[in-house]
Amino acid sequence: MDIEQIRQDIPLTDEFIYLDNASTSLSPRQVLDAMYEYETHYRANVGRGVHRLSQITGQLYWDAHETVNSFINGKDGTPVFVRNCTEAINMVARGLTFETGDEIITTVSDHHSNLLPWFTLRKQGVRVNVIAPSEDPAHASVTAEDVSDAIHHNTRLVAISQASNVLGTISPVREISAVAHESGALCLVDGAQSVPHMKTDVKEMGCDFLCFSGHKMLGPTGTGVLWMQDESIEPLLVGGGMIEEVTIDGYSPASGYQKYEAGTPHIAGALGLRAAITYLNQIGVEEIERHEALLAGELIKGLSDIEEVSIIGPPAGKNRIGVVSFMVEGMHPHDIAHLLDDQYSVMVRSGNHCCMPLMQHLGLKDGTVRASLYLYNTQEEIQTLISGVREIIEGI
Ligand code: ALA
Repeated sequence: MDIEQIRQDIPLTDEFIYLDNASTSLSPRQVLDAMYEYETHYRANVGRGVHRLSQITGQLYWDAHETVNSFINGKDGTPVFVRNCTEAINMVARGLTFETGDEIITTVSDHHSNLLPWFTLRKQGVRVNVIAPSEDPAHASVTAEDVSDAIHHNTRLVAISQASNVLGTISPVREISAVAHESGALCLVDGAQSVPHMKTDVKEMGCDFLCFSGHKMLGPTGTGVLWMQDESIEPLLVGGGMIEEVTIDGYSPASGYQKYEAGTPHIAGALGLRAAITYLNQIGVEEIERHEALLAGELIKGLSDIEEVSIIGPPAGKNRIGVVSFMVEGMHPHDIAHLLDDQYSVMVRSGNHCCMPLMQHLGLKDGTVRASLYLYNTQEEIQTLISGVREIIEGI
């Protein structure tokens, strides 16, 4: 991996030590160029015209779906473009038909976006069982056994994130999907924190739905994907662009992603996402994974050597991604984050990370400080973070 070249492609890496990648990543110029090219060379709508510009744009927009599908080995399913994982999960929650007494299993370490859409179904009489790992929750995700213990004949869906945006833990989604299917339930995997960082193969995963966000994988904000094995859910929105035929009595929907993408989509965003995936493919996701594991190891080791610091998450080298949460004794996470920015230009996230139930479960009322890594981060940046934390503590 040529990190110097990557950093040249992403000018912001020159100005800041950006360690808030779980929140959103930075985009290389190739992504911005793809969006600019669309706007300046062939801007038109998709699926709505026969003129030249519409044909070019339509083809590239279709290609963008193909690129996404190849990236996750999802050729047998349908990749629907959405704004983000929150939208994707709401689409599934609204698009499935639930009956009173149905149950959904999710976990206490899931993001609000994989909790609230299910909570809204409670008013329909759906039970939401929020399970916790049987092992130390700060170090472990739920296991297939935990899911198996909770599942029963009324369970319709197991919704689980593949990687925690707070702890960095990785869930065994393949085994969990299998447990769900054995009981006749569906499985939704929230890949927001995993797809940008790990080789993803939906076939191997065996899930029914996988969502991920483009902006966390070098793509533009406002882009994301809901991949579905079958087009079995009802579309969230209906209207222009998603139909086969309309009469005054009704309509028949199109098939494929079009069915779920009513209205003019974020075309520039889709083309930016396509460029982001092309960029990631050129580097190789396995390379990125190795690089992040190296940096995460150094970060965890360096922070663990500071007496006042506790890591909230599994140790280095375990089944984890490069999301490292920590606490500094006697200091509020927001103060640490503010000082790291102010004095070292280090950008980290602090607080509950949209995971209030997890913070309650762990007894962390102020949340954590969280550094989250990506391909453009360097060992030097990690050392700046570690020495920054050390100096902040010494200066109290
Ligand atoms: N889910 C994003 C995060 O964890 C926003 O920061």
